[in-house]
Amino acid sequence: MKLAEARKDQYRKLAHEQGYRSRAAFKLKELNHSYRIIGPGFYVLDLGCAPGGWTQIAVKLAGNQGKVMGVDLSYVEEIPGAYIIRESISDEHVADDILGYFRRKVNAVICDLSPQVSGNWSVDHAQQVSLNYDCTKIMDKVLARKGNAVFKIFDGEFSLEFKEYVKKKFVRVGITKPKASRQQSSELYYVCLGFNG
Ligand SMILES: C[S@@+](CC[C@H](N)C(=O)[O-])C[C@H]1O[C@@H](n2cnc3c(N)ncnc32)[C@H](O)[C@@H]1O
Repeated sequence: MKLAEARKDQYRKLAHEQGYRSRAAFKLKELNHSYRIIGPGFYVLDLGCAPGGWTQIAVKLAGNQGKVMGVDLSYVEEIPGAYIIRESISDEHVADDILGYFRRKVNAVICDLSPQVSGNWSVDHAQQVSLNYDCTKIMDKVLARKGNAVFKIFDGEFSLEFKEYVKKKFVRVGITKPKASRQQSSELYYVCLGFNG
């Protein structure tokens, strides 16, 4: 078994042992350890949340005083401490639903979206980046000044343009690949701190 495969298995096993719905949970855990995207008492919006690994981590990090909401096209089994809606993040009215739930702006928006991959890399990359632009439309309406965000990005020809786009909105943008992310996958995470509002 190759090292990357062994690592993938190791995170899957850990997720199972620790009761997380996905290996992805460890990506957010690691990102938060390095960048403190979410802190206690934070209001957190999780876009593309199914099956719910990130949501579970967000609930833990935000604690009793925090509030977490997830949005996904797919059904997500209930997660104690989180409110989940089944919607497309590309729907115009979703931002209103989000503000209706939180009743104020949120402190962090976390986006781990993937389209249904077709196998045609250029198409999948373009669609994934387009989903991230849709997330920024919601983010612009719901993220509080000085808030944080994270975006998964399928790295490719449109990544740089997206990076420049978010750079204008935040004090600091870091690009990283957590250990729990498969080495051979093209995904990167853009961690954005200090929303200009
Ligand atoms: C990699 S999964 C997210 C994993 C999640 N962060 C976790 O830890 O369990 C990507 C998700 O994006 C969702 N997605 C894709 N397009 C979407 C859209 N337009 N609106 C809402 N969710 C979408 C998919 O349904 C899928 O569940």
